Amino acid sequence: MDHRTAFPTRIEITEVGMRDGLQMEATFVPTETKARLIKRLVDAGVRQIEATSFVSPRAVPALRDAAELIASIERRADVTISVLAPNRKGIERAVAADVDEVVVFLSASESHNRKNLNRSIADSLNDMREAADVVRGTGVHLKGAIAVAFGCPFEGDISLDTIASIATRFADLGFSSVTLGDTTGMATPTNVRAAVTRLQQALPDMPINLHFHNTRGLGLVNVMEGLSLGITSYESSLGGIGGCPFAPGATGNVCTEDTVNLMNELGIDTGIDLARLCEVARDLEGVLAHPLSGQVMRAGPRLRSYALEEQAAAVG
Ligand code: COA
Ligand code: ZN
Repeated sequence: MDHRTAFPTRIEITEVGMRDGLQMEATFVPTETKARLIKRLVDAGVRQIEATSFVSPRAVPALRDAAELIASIERRADVTISVLAPNRKGIERAVAADVDEVVVFLSASESHNRKNLNRSIADSLNDMREAADVVRGTGVHLKGAIAVAFGCPFEGDISLDTIASIATRFADLGFSSVTLGDTTGMATPTNVRAAVTRLQQALPDMPINLHFHNTRGLGLVNVMEGLSLGITSYESSLGGIGGCPFAPGATGNVCTEDTVNLMNELGIDTGIDLARLCEVARDLEGVLAHPLSGQVMRAGPRLRSYALEEQAAAVG
């Protein structure tokens, strides 16, 4: 049996490297460099970009130029620029900056929510109600994201009831989708299937986005599980950069080029040109001045071919 017949024929990839990735980097990337990388991503065919966060600049100094960055991006009708915002102040800043979409977020565990947002989950849910009020009528879309959805480094496994009840609040607030975030790479095909199936049953009309980190080498395995569950929206980062500064052991997101390469091999359309994307990943590697964890940016696509005469031969 060909299991691929069950997979979607097209998926949407949201590039989160400029946000999830750069928030983890020690060096501040200048605004014009961020804008150049975003332009090159768009030129490579990326149509959804999470560009930055409107959070406290003291909490995440790497993204302190959020408003300037949004102002310096060349906007296009076919490209969605989204940003992360945790509270009323962030959402007001994001709406003033004229973004297309705001991702409001909280954690599935009280301890990570406290570390990340200095709030209880209940207070964060109240902040989200305010967010919905601020955004109503502005034309800006709201997405809800649940961090540590597949496991928390402080509390361990998260109950499906918790995930379902937060996602139900998102649906009640009119959010356009829910993102399940695997902040520290604790997702496995087993708990991805359990959480996604539960949400598909509880909220059949709510689109689900999957956001995986490759912390334990399961990033693309979890994407495959998502595909088999019919999920068509994934978040990934250029070069595999990324991680939450407020979660111990956090490492990079599942890598965008590696994901596109896999989709190409599965015959699933992403609209993204892999060769051009790898060039942008190498550009980013130069900017950050340390090796990135992306693999296809180094190895090239599967059928990359080499000149025979350039390869050393083993001769006795
Ligand atoms: N944008 C900019 N500044 C903000 C802000 C926002 N969205 N929210 C709060 N601030 C400022 C306040 O104006 C205040 O500034 P002041 O001291 O100069 O008056 C200061 O931050 C503290 O405000 P307060 O509401 O008390 O926030 P806090 O200290 O409880 O922190 C958050 C709460 C949410 C602002 C902070 O924890 C945060 O930014 N977290 C983001 C975490 C993150 O991005 N994690 C990675 C993604 S998973
Ligand atoms: Zn993340």
